[in-house]
Amino acid sequence: MCGIIGYLGDREATPILMESLKRLEYRGYDSAGVAVLELPHNGDATRTSITKSEKKVDTLIEKLNANMPSGRLGIGHTRWATHGKPTYINAHPHTDCKGKIFVVHNGIIENFAELKAELQAAGHEFPSDTDTEVVPHLIEANYKGDFLAAVRAALKRIRGTYALAMFSSDDPELLVGARLNAPLVVGLGDNEYWIASDITAIIPYTKRVLVLGEGEVAAVTPLGPEVSTLDGKTVKPKIVHVDWDVAQAQKGGFDHFMLKEIHEEPDAVANAMRGRLTDDGVVSFREFDLPDDDLRRIREVLLLGMGTSLHAAIVGELVIEDWAGIPARAEDASEFRYRRPTFGDKTLSVVITQSGETADTLVALQQAKCRGALSVAVTNVIASSAARDADGAIYLHSGPEIGVASTKTFVAHLSSLYLLAMKLATVHGRVSLERRRELVEALRALPDQVQGIVDREKEIAKLADKYSGYKNFMFAGRGLGFPVALEGALKLKEISYIHAEGTSGGELKHGAIALLDESFPVVAICTDSPTREKMVSNVHEIVARNAPVLALVTKGDHSLDDVATDMFEMPAVEEASSAVLNTVMLQLFAYHVATKLGQDVDQPRNLAKSVTVE
Ligand code: G6P
Repeated sequence: MCGIIGYLGDREATPILMESLKRLEYRGYDSAGVAVLELPHNGDATRTSITKSEKKVDTLIEKLNANMPSGRLGIGHTRWATHGKPTYINAHPHTDCKGKIFVVHNGIIENFAELKAELQAAGHEFPSDTDTEVVPHLIEANYKGDFLAAVRAALKRIRGTYALAMFSSDDPELLVGARLNAPLVVGLGDNEYWIASDITAIIPYTKRVLVLGEGEVAAVTPLGPEVSTLDGKTVKPKIVHVDWDVAQAQKGGFDHFMLKEIHEEPDAVANAMRGRLTDDGVVSFREFDLPDDDLRRIREVLLLGMGTSLHAAIVGELVIEDWAGIPARAEDASEFRYRRPTFGDKTLSVVITQSGETADTLVALQQAKCRGALSVAVTNVIASSAARDADGAIYLHSGPEIGVASTKTFVAHLSSLYLLAMKLATVHGRVSLERRRELVEALRALPDQVQGIVDREKEIAKLADKYSGYKNFMFAGRGLGFPVALEGALKLKEISYIHAEGTSGGELKHGAIALLDESFPVVAICTDSPTREKMVSNVHEIVARNAPVLALVTKGDHSLDDVATDMFEMPAVEEASSAVLNTVMLQLFAYHVATKLGQDVDQPRNLAKSVTVE
C-alpha cells in the first residue's frame, strides 16, 4: 500500500527520495510525489517544490530529472488510492492554504469529513478528494509559531490510522514523523536521517533504525530524532539493528523479484529453522521463550492471518492438531475481529503475517489478547507491530520480500509452524522421541528438497506454457494438500489474473464440479498422504467430466498414469514436507503462466504488499 520516505541531512534530498520511492514501489501504489524544501539562492526566501505524477514512480523521476529541486529536506510518497481516484491532485504531498506545510500520509483519517467541514467553515480550501488533506490544514489551524506543537494538537483531533512525514517551510531543519496503527521508522545515519514506512526503503543507507511506537511523534533535526507522545512527554527511543542487506532487495540477475525469491526458498526454509532444532527435536525460539509449564497449559491454538498467511495458518492448524493433539483453528483475521469468539486464557493465538503490519491481523491479535489469550507473532519483520504487540515473536529471517505475492515467506511460515507444532507436541507429550527424530531428519532434508524442485523450473515452465491458454483453473487437494491448493489458486489468480479456485477434493462434488469441462483444467494434488487414494478417486470423477488434469504425484505412484493429462512427479517425503514442495512447484507454475501472458508479476494490479487499512 502507500509508501513514505522523508530525508533530512547534508546530502541532496531529491536523488535519495527518488531512489527510495523506487524501492517502495513493491508495496503496490498508483501515483507518487515529492516535496523538497529548496535551498535559498541569493537571499531569496525558502520555497518548497512539489513534483507529482498520477502514474508510476518512473514518470515522477523523469519529471524530477528534468527539473531537479535542490535541498536537504524532503518527503516522498507512493499512493494507493483510498479516498479519491489516482489523479495528480490527489497524489501526495498535500499542503495547507499558504503552501507552507507539507504532509505525506499512509492510513485513513476516519473523521476527515467532519474535520473538513469544520475547516471549510473556517475558510480553508481543499483542492483534493483525499482524507489526508485535512492534516496540513488542521496543522495550519493550530499553528502559533511552533510547528511541532501544532502537529501534536492536530493529531489529537484525528481518528483512524496514520503514518505521517511532514515539514514546514518555516522550519527548514525539522522533519516530523508520527504514527498510529500504521508503521513508521526513522533511519539513523551520520548527520542524516530518514523517515520511512518500511525498512526496505532505507536499507542501502543505514542498518540502525528507530522504531516509532503507537501514538508517538519523532522530531528529527540535524542533532538527531527526539521521540515524544502527543502530550509532549519524552519517550526513550527503541533502536534496532536490521540484518537485511542491499543485495537481498535487488533482483540479482533474475527477471523478477518473485522468481528470485522463489530461488531463495531453500535458504528461507533453512533460515527459519537455523539454531532452533536439536537432533532430538527440542525446539527453542529466542524471542518466544516460555517455560514449558506455560505451554503445557495451552488447550487451544488459534491461528490468525490474511491472504497467503491465512493459508499458512490452515497448514499450521492441521499440523498442530495432528502432531500436538491440541484443538487448533485457523481464522480469517478480518472476520475474526468482528466476532465474539469463545476462548479463554488457555488459548495460544498465533499471528501469521510476513509484514507484521496487516491491519486486520493486528486488530484480531488485540481481540485475542483482550480475551486473555497468550500470543505469538510469526513474522519476517523485526520490531514490526505484530512482533511488538504479541507476547513473543518467531522471526522468519527470510530477508526482504519484494514481490507483492508472498512466496519465500510462505515456505518460511510453514517451516516455523512445523517447529512450533513440534514444540507443542513435545511439551504435551504427544510425540515419541523416535517420531521426533524422524521429523527432525525430514525437516533438515527440506532445504535440499526445495532446491530439487527449484532446479526443475524448466520442466514446470513447459507445463505452464501448455496450460497458459486456459481462462479458468481449479486446484484441488485433501489434508495438507487442501491449503496448498488454496495457495496454488491464489498465486495463479493474483499474478496472472486468470480465474482460479481452490477446493478440497471432497467439496468438489458439492458445486464446483458443475463448472468442469474440457476448457476448465484441474491441478490435483495427489502426492502421498493418508488421503491420497481419495484424491485419486476425485481425479477419476474430474476426468469423467472431460476436464484436463495436471496431477502432482509421488514418484513411483502409477495410479494416475493413464488418467491424468499431465503428471509432475514429486519425491517421496513426509506429508508436511510435501506441502512445502508442492507449493514451490505451484508458485513456479503460476509465475511462468503469468510471465507467458506478459503480466507484471512483482506488482500485480490492485494488490498491495502490506495491507495497512481494513
Ligand atoms: C497482501 C499481500 C499478500 C499477503 C497478505 C497478508 O494481500 O499481497 O501476499 O499474503 O497481504 O500479508 P501479511 O503481511 O499479513 O502476511
